[in-house]
Amino acid sequence: MSKENIIITDMGASASNKHSTKPVLCLGIESSCDETSAAIVDSDKNILAHIIYSQIPEHQKYGGVVPELAARAHILAIDEIIKLTLERANKTIADMDVIAATAGPGLIGGVLVGWMAATGIANATNKPLVAVNHLEGHALVPRLKSTSATDSATDIDVEFPYLLILASGGHCQILLVQGVGKYELIGQTLDDSAGEAFDKVAKMLGLGYPGGPIVDKRAKEGDPKKFHFPRPLCDKPGCDFSFSGIKTAARMLLDKTDESLRDEKFINDFCASFQASVVDCIINRLTNALHDERIINAAPKTLVVAGGVAKNSAIRSAIENLANKFNMQFAAPPMNLCTDNGAMIAWAGLENYKIGNIVKEPVAPRPRWPLTEL
Ligand code: KG4
Ligand code: ZN
Repeated sequence: MSKENIIITDMGASASNKHSTKPVLCLGIESSCDETSAAIVDSDKNILAHIIYSQIPEHQKYGGVVPELAARAHILAIDEIIKLTLERANKTIADMDVIAATAGPGLIGGVLVGWMAATGIANATNKPLVAVNHLEGHALVPRLKSTSATDSATDIDVEFPYLLILASGGHCQILLVQGVGKYELIGQTLDDSAGEAFDKVAKMLGLGYPGGPIVDKRAKEGDPKKFHFPRPLCDKPGCDFSFSGIKTAARMLLDKTDESLRDEKFINDFCASFQASVVDCIINRLTNALHDERIINAAPKTLVVAGGVAKNSAIRSAIENLANKFNMQFAAPPMNLCTDNGAMIAWAGLENYKIGNIVKEPVAPRPRWPLTEL
C-alpha cells in the first residue's frame, strides 16, 4: 500500500459534537471497487475520521479496474486503513457503538474483504453490525452533509421523500427515496451507466482513467456546440436512459477524424459536446420524472444528485437549475462524498441502526443487490 494514495478528508479528533447527548458512533468500511476506505461518523453528523486509499494508480495502466488486483490491494490495505482511521479519531474499537460495511453490490472480491473485516470486528467485540447496500450509501449521504451546487457550505436538510438521480460508474437510476430502505425505481439505464460513458469516451481519446474528471476538465475549455452527439430516448416518454448510442457516435466521430486533426482544441470541443449530450439526457429524463404521477403524488421537496458523476460541475448546475424551475431545493453531497467513500457507508450504517436494521443471521455479500431489494 503506497501512502501517497491515502486521502484524509476529516477534521480529525477535534470534530466537535453539536449536541450534548452522547452520539452514536459508527465505523464504516467501503471496499466494493477501487477505494479502500474507512470512516468514523457520529449520529450528530460529525465525520470524526475519514481515510480513503485510492487504488487508481494501480489500475491506470490497464485503463480500468482489474477486479483481481483490486481484491488483493484491499486485502493489503484494509487493516492499516481501519487502524489509521481509529487513531485519527482518537478512538478504539471499544468506543464504537456499531460497525457497518458494504455488503454489495460491487466487485465481489473487494466486497468480501471489507465485509469479512467488519464481521470479524463485530463478532469479536459483540457489537451490532449493519450490512450496507453500497447504493444506499450514495443515496443517503446527502443527508449527512450536503452543499449547494457552488459548494458554498450551505447546509440543506434533505428530508424524505426526495427525488434522487444516482449516477456512478456502475449505475444510473432515478429513484423516489421514501425513507431508509424504501426506494421506488422511476427510471434506469438500459445499457451503460453515465460514469461508464465518461470513462469509455476518455479511454478512446487516450485521456486516462477514470475518465469522468478528465472529460469534465477538458469540457470546461471546449465548445459544447462544436459536434453533435445524439440524445438517446429523449424523444420518448419515460425516465429510462441509454448512453451506449452516445458512445458509438463518439467512436464514429473519432474514426472519421484524421489523427493529425486531433489536437488539444479538438479534444476539448469533443469532451464539451459529449458532456452536453449527457447533461441534456439527464435533464430530459428528470423532467419526465418530475411530471410522473408517482412523483407528483409524493411531492418531494428536494432534488438530489449523488454518485461519482455528481462531481461533474455542468451536471450539478443543470440539475440545480431544474430544481429551481420546479421550486424545489437542490442538494448534492460535498465533492469528497460523491465518489466511493467510507463516510457514506458509516452514515448509511447509522441510519439503518436507528431503525433496527442490523445483521441477525450471517449475511452473504452480493455482487448484485438492487436498492429495491432491501
Ligand atoms: O460512485 P463512484 O465512485 O463509483 C461507483 O460506485 O461506480 O463513481 C465513479 C464514476 C466513474 O465512472 C468516474 O469517471 C465518474 O464517477 N466521475 C465523474 C466525475 N468524477 C467522477 N464523471 C463525470 N464528471 C466528473 N467530474
Ligand atoms: Zn459507488
